[in-house]
Amino acid sequence: MDAATTITGAVPPGHPGRAQADARAALRATTAAAHARLHRHPAFAALAEGWISLPAHQALLARLHGFHAPLETRLLAANPAQDPALRMSERRHAGRLRMDLVDLGLADAAIDALPVAGEGLLSAPADDMGHFLGCLYVREGSTLGGRVLARALDPLLGAGTERGRRFLAGNGVNEGDLWRDLCVALEESAAMGHLPGMVAGARAIFAGLEAWLDGLDADA
Ligand code: HEM
Repeated sequence: MDAATTITGAVPPGHPGRAQADARAALRATTAAAHARLHRHPAFAALAEGWISLPAHQALLARLHGFHAPLETRLLAANPAQDPALRMSERRHAGRLRMDLVDLGLADAAIDALPVAGEGLLSAPADDMGHFLGCLYVREGSTLGGRVLARALDPLLGAGTERGRRFLAGNGVNEGDLWRDLCVALEESAAMGHLPGMVAGARAIFAGLEAWLDGLDADA
C-alpha cells in the first residue's frame, strides 16, 4: 500500500492544492529506503506475513517499548509540543505498548527493567520546530502501518481481540484526524523554512530505530 495515494496522489500535478502536500512527499521520499529496510527486518517481516511466534512478538514489543517510551517522553517535553494546536496529549502511544506487554504476561517490574534506548538514538527534538515535527512525522506515520500489522496478528492472537496489539492497532478513535492535522502542520512549517530540520529529524528517528532494533536478536 502506498501512502502517496491517500493524500498526495489524490491531487493532480499542476493543481494548486498539490503544493500543500510537498513537505510530506519530501519526508516520505527521504525516508523511503529506511522504511523499506524496516519492512525487511526479520521480526517486522514475520509479523507482517502473519507467522510471528508469541516469544518473538513479545520480544519485538519489548524492544519497541525501549524506544517509544523514552521518545514519547522527550517529544512531550519539547518546547514545540506545548503548542495546543498539536494536540500532543492525544498523541500518547507508549501506554498501549506497556498494556500489550502486560497482556503477554510481563509484570510491571519486568517492564521497568527492560533495556531503554540511549539519548544518542532518540535524536532529542529539543526546541527546533522542524526537527520536532520530523520526529513526530515518523512517530505518527508509523501508526498507519501499525494498523496493517495489527490485522496480521489474527493468526497469533485470534480475531477480534485487542490484547497484545493495542499499540499497533492504535486508539481507533481520532487517529485519522490527528494525522491530517499533523500533515497540515508539516506543510505550514515547511512554508516557514523548517523543511530541512524536518527531514533531519525524520531521518534521525528512522536511523535510531533501525540501530535500536539491531539489538533485538541479542535480547530475544
Ligand atoms: C513491517 C513494518 C511496517 C509496515 C508493513 C508498514 C506499512 C506502512 C503502510 C502501509 C503505510 C501507509 C499507510 C496509509 O497510507 O494508510 C505506512 C506509512 C508510514 N510508516 Fe510504515 N510500516 C512499517 C513499519 C514502520 C515503522 C517501524 C516506522 C517508523 C517508526 C514507519 C513509519 C511510517 C511513516 C512515517 C509512514 C507515513 C508515510 C507517508 O508520509 O505517507 N513504518 N507504513
